[in-house]
Amino acid sequence: MKTESRLQIYITFKEFFIYLYRVLFNSKIDYIKKAENEIKTLTSANYCLLTSSARSAIYLMLKNGLKKNSLIAITSLTLSDVVNMILCAGHKPLFIDVNYKDGQMSLKDLEKISKKRKIDAVLVTHFFGQMCDMKNLKVFCKKNNIKIFEDAAQVFGGSQQGVHSGNFGEAGAFSFGQFKTTSCIKGGALITNNKKIYEKSIKEIKIWKKYNKFEKISLMLYVLLVKIITNKLIFNLFIFKIFKFGNIYNVSFINSFLKIEKKTCCYNILPKKFKKIQSNESAEMLINQINNAKKNINKRLLYAKIYEKNLISKKNLVLTNLKSSEDVLYVLFAKVKNRSNFIKNAYLNNFDISVCYNKNLADLNCFKMFKRECINSKKIVEEAIYLPCRDVSNRNYINRLVQFINKY
Ligand SMILES: Cc1ncc(COP(=O)(O)O)c(C=O)c1O
Repeated sequence: MKTESRLQIYITFKEFFIYLYRVLFNSKIDYIKKAENEIKTLTSANYCLLTSSARSAIYLMLKNGLKKNSLIAITSLTLSDVVNMILCAGHKPLFIDVNYKDGQMSLKDLEKISKKRKIDAVLVTHFFGQMCDMKNLKVFCKKNNIKIFEDAAQVFGGSQQGVHSGNFGEAGAFSFGQFKTTSCIKGGALITNNKKIYEKSIKEIKIWKKYNKFEKISLMLYVLLVKIITNKLIFNLFIFKIFKFGNIYNVSFINSFLKIEKKTCCYNILPKKFKKIQSNESAEMLINQINNAKKNINKRLLYAKIYEKNLISKKNLVLTNLKSSEDVLYVLFAKVKNRSNFIKNAYLNNFDISVCYNKNLADLNCFKMFKRECINSKKIVEEAIYLPCRDVSNRNYINRLVQFINKY
């Protein structure tokens, strides 16, 4: 029985080819400006600055949007590097637990801690490709004079009550990394309506370095390799067999291959790799992808609805609540009890299902000086799985998977 790779790259072979051609024979067109204008139109933000990653954008907006040494509330369930961006920007993080139901920042926990500590800003992470409840968060932040910044890395194209993600507060950051649903070889963006944040950020990146030709081609080759090994034929012939073996026999060398942030550390000086300017070639690729964003979101939603409609409600597997008008579904989040047993069985039945590799940051040794008890975050980290819903998955595969889960 054929399977499908959990990782699917939206960049097409034609787009790879155009990228390579442009790297070798420069284009005179300013695609960076063009992409920034498209993002401004789509999000209704006044200013947009293309960056080489969401992390660079997060660093820039926090550094240039707040007084030094601000206390920033951040969800305990995100990338450790995002916490490091807070530190690099000269501020202090305060971990907030998530809701067990949806994995988004818990307003209840934020309210509780704000009675004891003076919070200057919230960095809201829209996690699992779904949006936080911004309406209630905004009311709370306004009342308590707290500024809102958004880590909208996973939700480009998502909106709530007519407001695009990233545009609810002072500024927002998007990621256009290769695995994102709107992607290019490497990229991110900062959007804001605050002229000062924009102008200070532009000034700051003036001394950042450009990628040279070698770096551009190396980055491209890595993404191309992932595209090739996730190709259905190659994946079924070789790659899946290796992952299946690793999962069934608990081979940690194989199982750790796809883990993100294998080593976490704490730092407060921005590493050189983040002080890079977006390349014109990647920006050109991004424009194409932006045009497909809405269509792709709708396809993922369509697949997600198959699960929603057909999965028999069970105590041991709970699918996230779908909100069709808001979701981007970077991943399709579900929680499962006794996860390792479920994954092993899924592999035995030829399903490549991913677990969530994010960690409960509030519990990490490297951030022990900011430690807080975040019970829900801990539970989700142990239970979260991602069901396939990228538009390249086919209906039969999803139907088979639903049948397997229903019998499990
Ligand atoms: C929630 C969140 N924030 C930030 C990032 C970082 O994005 P980038 O790799 O573009 O820096 C990611 C990437 O996956 C993410 O999921």
